[in-house]
Order: sequence, then C-alpha cells, then structure tokens
Amino acid sequence: MDQFLITGRSRIAGEVTISGAKNAALPLLAAMILAETPTTLNNVPTLQDVRTLVKLIAGMGVNIVKEGSTVRCDTSSIENYFAPYDLVKTMRASILVLGPLLARFGEAEVSLPGGCAIGSRPVDQHLKAFKAMGADIMVENGYVKAKAPEGGRLIGCEFSFDMVTVGGTENVLIAATLAKGTTILENCAREPEVVDLANMLVAMGAKIKGIGTAVMTIEGVDSLHGCDYSVVPDRIETGSYLAGALMTCGDVTAKNTAPSLLQPVLQKFEEMGAVITTGDDWIRAQMSGRPKPVNIRTQPHPGFPTDMQAQLMAVCCLADGTSTISENIFENRYMHVPELKRMGADIQVDGHTAIIRGIEQFNAAPVMATDLRASMSLVMAAAAAQGQTVIDRIYHIDRGYENVEEKLRGLGVNIERIKPNG
Ligand code: UD1
Repeated sequence: MDQFLITGRSRIAGEVTISGAKNAALPLLAAMILAETPTTLNNVPTLQDVRTLVKLIAGMGVNIVKEGSTVRCDTSSIENYFAPYDLVKTMRASILVLGPLLARFGEAEVSLPGGCAIGSRPVDQHLKAFKAMGADIMVENGYVKAKAPEGGRLIGCEFSFDMVTVGGTENVLIAATLAKGTTILENCAREPEVVDLANMLVAMGAKIKGIGTAVMTIEGVDSLHGCDYSVVPDRIETGSYLAGALMTCGDVTAKNTAPSLLQPVLQKFEEMGAVITTGDDWIRAQMSGRPKPVNIRTQPHPGFPTDMQAQLMAVCCLADGTSTISENIFENRYMHVPELKRMGADIQVDGHTAIIRGIEQFNAAPVMATDLRASMSLVMAAAAAQGQTVIDRIYHIDRGYENVEEKLRGLGVNIERIKPNG
C-alpha cells in the first residue's frame, strides 16, 4: 500500500485547478443508464470511485468508456441488471444503479453496500421509497432484488424521506423520472450535487419541478434520451485546498470552481480571519497570522458540509483559542482525531462534539488515513507540521482527489508517494 512522505513547514500558496465533483459524477454516471440514446458526460474526474462505477456499468454489457475527462455511454447493448458484491463493497454509491435499472428495465439485483468506516449508513430510505412506488423488494443473501409492479413500470407516489439523505434523494429522483404518473418527494436533500443530477435529468427529457428545494415534483415520462452534460466543480476539493492556506499563512486561488456552492465554508474561513475574494469561477483565500477559533455544526446543505469537517478541524487545531465542532450527519466521523493528536493536536471528543484547543504547531508523526476526507486533513496537517510525516493507507485519498500530489506540489507542498519497504 502506497504512503505519502510529506516534509512540513510549507507555505501553501499558488493556483490550483479544481476538478469535476466526485459526488456529482457518480449519480450522473448512474443516471446515464436511463437514456435510450448515447450520452456524453464531461468534466468527469479521474478517480478510483469513478473507475469502479464505470466498471460496474460496463459489467452489465453497457458500452461505457472514459477518455480523459469525458465519459461516453450507450446502453443499447445492456445484457443484465446486476451489480455484484465485489464492486459494490468498495464503494457505497454503487447502490445508485438500483433506481435507474428498476425504473427503465423493471428489475435489478444490486448487492447491499453494508457499513463503512464513518457509520452504519443504511439504505432503508432508498428501499422504502421504491416500495412506495410499487416495487417488490426482497433482501436475500446480501442482495437487494427489486421488481417493478405489473407492466414493468414504477408508479408515481407521494413520499417523504424520514431524514435528509443525499444518496436516497438521488436514487429515488432518478427512478421517478420514468415512473407512471406524478411523484412528489418531500424532505429532499438540496446539495449542489442533487441539483446537478436534476439538471442533467431535465436535459435528458425529464420533467422535474422544485429543483434545489426540499420538495420535488416529478412527472414521469415514457422514455429519456441522451444528452451532453458537464459535471459541476468539486466544492469539497475546492474547500480542502483553500483550507491549506488558512493553516500555513498561505494564499491559494482555486480556479474552475463555483463560489456560490461554498458559501457556508467561505463564511467560516472569513470568521477564521482569511481574506476571501471571488470571481465568477475562482476563489482566493489569503491568510496572515493564526486562525481565529470558531464553532461549527455540520448540517445538510445549505448548512456546513460534513465532508469539510475533518479539514476544518485541522485548521482549528492551529487556532489561537478553543473551537468546537458538532458532527450531526454521521455517527463515527471523528476517526482523524487520534491521528491529529499523534501530531500534537489537543482535541477532546464528547459524543457528537469535539473541543479543539489550538496549538502553535503540529509535529510530524507516522499517521494513518482512515477515510477519504480525513486523509486530506492529515495531508494538510503534515504540510504545516515541523518534520517529516508518513501517511499510511492513502488509497482513501485516491478515491476522491484527482491528481492530488501534482496539485499539492503546485501549491508548494513537499510531498512524495512512497512504497513501504520499497
Ligand atoms: C453522500 C456523499 C457523502 C456525504 C454525505 C452527506 C456521495 C457519493 N457521498 O453520502 O460524501 O458525506 O452525502 O452529505 O454523494 N441514512 C439512513 N438511511 C438511508 C440513507 C441515509 O439512515 O437510507 C443516514 C446515513 O446513515 C447518514 C445520513 O442519513 O447518517 C446522511 O446520509 P446520506 O445523505 O444518504 O449520505 P450518502 O448519500 O451516503
């Protein structure tokens, strides 16, 4: 397993070009299954999770290829509606193929994703909604076996999610586009990636009202066609690199991004003392001195995103005072805490709340990446630290950050990918 060797005390500064959003690309790739004519998706990041989903869809006999940042997909040769455990287990978002398969072909068999490091993450809401649309759902031997009602089409209904779920909203929205009649979805996630998906579905011929709000009304159509669409910029990647500036008295300009998607994060950066300037498609964060302490509560969009919690915690560790973070989306998303503590951080966790007393500097230590976003908090801490840090299990970061070493080097970080004992 590869490791990162990072020599610290860097000032993170310069320009970085932001890739398409992983969390938008995945549902958009799944939605391509709906189209009866070829679809082209642009600005798709080259990431392990994208490779996994492309492989999963290709395994159904679909002609899907990724060249550079473009994915072309033609479903006319589809042979089966099956998503096997060995691929699904590596990436929870694979469950997103259930909605399009069930809606278009009337049946699907998809492995249950199981838990993951940051929490149990069930898919009960996805299945409950499909049942409400008339599907027969059986969970057997670790697989969800789903069948549409007589006639092979889901039936529009009124459904309210018990909690705000991004993946649940996406899966059910995709399915509702081809259902018979009208579906009204309440308590929907409003994340920019859900909006991006809805916009692509509209470009494919879907009829959706209330995009970007908690209530979406979908009038089912008989078929959808292909389109040419571009993935929205990655707001989490953007925020992660900008956070580096706050930790190192740095100056980072993120290009090819969308400031409107990052308002809750930029607001915290400003509270911490950064000077934020924006243009149509760029954001600059300039920092001098230590960050000011802040209080952060993760919430569904438009609240502060849980996917930026670990990176902001690393910034809080260096603040001039005591910060608090309350994690309200996932029950086990503080696995980076013991790792940051190994680097000298002063953090106390009590249930959902972390209390972070600022220290003047991190000190290098061997640490382990525990999940995707936690990995980035360790990389940034290592870049700021005194000494050389080795980060183990960096396969997590490869799942979600395109060209991460190249981009970090461009910002002045001294980083090398090494093979242990090699
Ligand atoms: C997506 C993102 C992930 C982000 C998360 C929250 C992708 C590929 N991943 O994950 O990066 O951290 O949104 O913004 O887009 N829940 C249930 N039952 C369900 C579904 C969800 O109990 O059927 C719970 C989950 O356990 C969790 C909460 O709802 O506690 C939110 O999960 P959800 O929004 O569904 O996250 P994902 O779509 O898995």
